[in-house]
Amino acid sequence: MLTRTPVPCPGTAIEELDTPVLLVDLDVFEANLATLLSYCRNHGTLWRPHSKSHKCPAIARLQLQAGACGITCAKLSEAELMVANGIGPVLLANQLVTRSKLDRLARLQERQEVILAVDGPSGAALAGQAACDHGVCIPVVLEMDIGMNRVGVRAGESARQLARRLADTPGLELRGLMGYEGHVLAVQPREEKVRACHQALDILLETRTRLEADGLPLPVVSAGGTGCYDITAAYPGITEIQAGGGVFMDAMYRYKFHVDTLDFALTCLTTVTSRSASHVVVDAGFKTLSAYHQPPTLLDRDDLQLRYLSAEHGVFDLQPNAKGPAVGDQLRLVVGYSDSTTVLHDRFLGIRNGRVERIWQIEGRGCLD
Ligand SMILES: Cc1ncc(COP(=O)(O)O)c(C=O)c1O
Repeated sequence: MLTRTPVPCPGTAIEELDTPVLLVDLDVFEANLATLLSYCRNHGTLWRPHSKSHKCPAIARLQLQAGACGITCAKLSEAELMVANGIGPVLLANQLVTRSKLDRLARLQERQEVILAVDGPSGAALAGQAACDHGVCIPVVLEMDIGMNRVGVRAGESARQLARRLADTPGLELRGLMGYEGHVLAVQPREEKVRACHQALDILLETRTRLEADGLPLPVVSAGGTGCYDITAAYPGITEIQAGGGVFMDAMYRYKFHVDTLDFALTCLTTVTSRSASHVVVDAGFKTLSAYHQPPTLLDRDDLQLRYLSAEHGVFDLQPNAKGPAVGDQLRLVVGYSDSTTVLHDRFLGIRNGRVERIWQIEGRGCLD
């Protein structure tokens, strides 16, 4: 029978690891976590980190122990995994529109609060029926389109009608509003990004003011990703932010979204398997590293430029006149986008002082429904 690669023991030196493997620099990870949390605290905003970048209950637990007010999930099965591991409360920042999934969500409420994002009347009606049939209450937030043009109701009459419906549907408890300002993350220069972000958030805040004047209390206003965490967490009226991937940081956040207050904690350790005078090949291609949204880059060296990733080969051009690494050398790559990279792996190895300290299984890998 074939066996999988053995999991390295704590204490193993980085140089002794078989590659490719995902490393989390624990000092940097902890510093990123502290930066995100203290920034939120200093601005009176709660932190409900999105778990989609790690899909790992052990990391979610650390975030909660540090002071996060809960966890955000993108998928019901991710929320189920978190709840099964004692993690919560959870914000399921996505729509569920079939009865079977709403039954699963209703069953989860018996163990943990899982708030659902709703953006339409049919989802609201089905959620209410599921809650009543299971004898539970499903807390909901109304998801608004704040300019990203993905999901969410538009401001104005549509939002007012849906909010009233959510408040009046037996089995549901309307907690507030959510939106995601994903369309502003790459805006430059900084003043323009701040302006675009505020404009998006104002849609939530103005809606809340109007609906509260209509007698609908909306204590939660949730938004914010890593790419704009500092702008959103500091905006008066936003009660919590969902920024998640910032604990890892990646090339997309740094080079596309210009986040410079967090450092690279997540890298992929690779080995040079072949080289020529002009290029170097490592043992990690697109089945190990994702180039979706942003290609990976090298950590702490600038003599190599990614040419392409094939399935199991990463091909890098060597800068003219550079000596470059030798076959057998290890190279550490900053992942392009943590979300699309971590799901290719079974585990993270937490590294400190050059050795493995912790092994975190990516248990939510494959949790897609
Ligand atoms: C609903 C929602 N909230 C927050 C985020 C931000 O996540 P992160 O901070 O991991 O980039 C995203 C990213 O896609 C999202 O879709």
